[in-house]
Amino acid sequence: MDKKQVKRRIVLVPVPAQGHVTPIMQLGKALHSKGFSITVIQTQYNRVSSSQDFSDFQFLTIPGTLTDSDLKTLGALQFLMKLNEICEASFKHCLSQLLQEQGSGDDIACVIYDEYMYFSAAAPKEFQLPSVVFSTTNATAFVCRSVLAKVNADKFLIDMKDPEVQNSLFPGLDPLRYKDLPTSAFGTIEDIIKLYGEAVNTRTASAVIINSASCLESSSLSRLQLKLQVPVYPIGPLHIAASASSSLLEEDKSCIEWLNKQKPRTVIYISLGSLGRMETKDMLEMASGLSNSNQPFLWVIRPGSIPGSDWTESLPEEFSKLVSERGYIVKWAPQMEVLRNPAVGGFLSHCGWNSTLESIGEGVPMICRPITGDQKVNARYLESVWRIGVQLEGELVKETVERVVKRLIVDEEGADIRKRAIDLKEKVEASVRSGGSSCSSLHNFVNSLQTKSL
Ligand code: UDX
Repeated sequence: MDKKQVKRRIVLVPVPAQGHVTPIMQLGKALHSKGFSITVIQTQYNRVSSSQDFSDFQFLTIPGTLTDSDLKTLGALQFLMKLNEICEASFKHCLSQLLQEQGSGDDIACVIYDEYMYFSAAAPKEFQLPSVVFSTTNATAFVCRSVLAKVNADKFLIDMKDPEVQNSLFPGLDPLRYKDLPTSAFGTIEDIIKLYGEAVNTRTASAVIINSASCLESSSLSRLQLKLQVPVYPIGPLHIAASASSSLLEEDKSCIEWLNKQKPRTVIYISLGSLGRMETKDMLEMASGLSNSNQPFLWVIRPGSIPGSDWTESLPEEFSKLVSERGYIVKWAPQMEVLRNPAVGGFLSHCGWNSTLESIGEGVPMICRPITGDQKVNARYLESVWRIGVQLEGELVKETVERVVKRLIVDEEGADIRKRAIDLKEKVEASVRSGGSSCSSLHNFVNSLQTKSL
């Protein structure tokens, strides 16, 4: 940054969840490397990252807690909406203090907030600071959210009960079917319509940043750019552009030693992200299918991810027998290192956008088992647009698990999928290199801050 220009600070406001913290902290890292100071303003429900990667960042926590009864009864969507209600005033107070403290040549260039932390929009408007919306999902999911925000809840519910409708293309969103739309397992359709209405309302924001790349979804990005009246900057995949460790859970690195003993491209890595859960019955079907496929597998089973169990203690003896021969289980993995390991041949995933980008970035084909929200959109794109994944749809039964693993690892079809995955990896890598579309987009965004033209 030009020395004559004032050293500038960027305020980031993350959603308190791993899948949102990870990309916004990577964004902070990317902007820090361009010379900005970074302040992260968190709610009481975030955990400050202690990672060395962010030792130069300032972390502030604003007051605002939900009642015990709210915490017990509210679903995830209602929790987010309530958090937005209670944090607006405390955020404004915090920002005004930051503005008072400045004056030593460290002015605030802009506030970048996660689209679900929309309480952050009012204060910058009042203090005449630019604000920027950060979408941690992709442009296609953003477009879907704006469509869903306008549907009639009653009609949509009736439509969705009809299996024929569920499997038909949603008008204007080809190749997405009704069932691929980002409805949520964490709340009612009324809640989702309300939350999406808030999230896609970019209010007074001057720009939107998306953790995606034009080689992945150029038509959705153009559509979004047309729809929003402000610049859209696709600057991803951020984990390649600005890798930084922001894991909220302790990573079990012993699985890397185990992976190092396996043959190249044979292992199936299984993880449902930071929120996915699986019933005991499905755990057993999955374990049987994996065991019958004769492929080694590395499985992340998070504590609390099996309903009614702290970890795996409620699973029957049969489960341990099924995994003992070829499987390795951890509570939380160093996912990037795992995907980079040559032994990994496929990723059975819930298709959260971070996991999807990380798998694409390593050229690892995917088995898609989406659970909720944008994961369904991502899974459809993985299978039918990028063609680097196969969906594991319907009831989970051991036969389909075995078949899908063999399709990916053993069959000829798998070799074609892997080739496409490598091609896509090269494209996304090129997009973040100097001259690539995401690199130029980040440059343009930074330039707009430096020249105060945002
Ligand atoms: C959520 C939503 O589910 C997702 O669809 C949305 O795009 C972002 O918010 P989450 O479910 O946690 O995120 O999934 P994902 O986006 O894949 O993020 C999970 C992150 O946790 C990834 O960065 C992954 O590398 C990391 N992870 C996961 C680990 O580091 N170790 C693990 O064992 C599992």
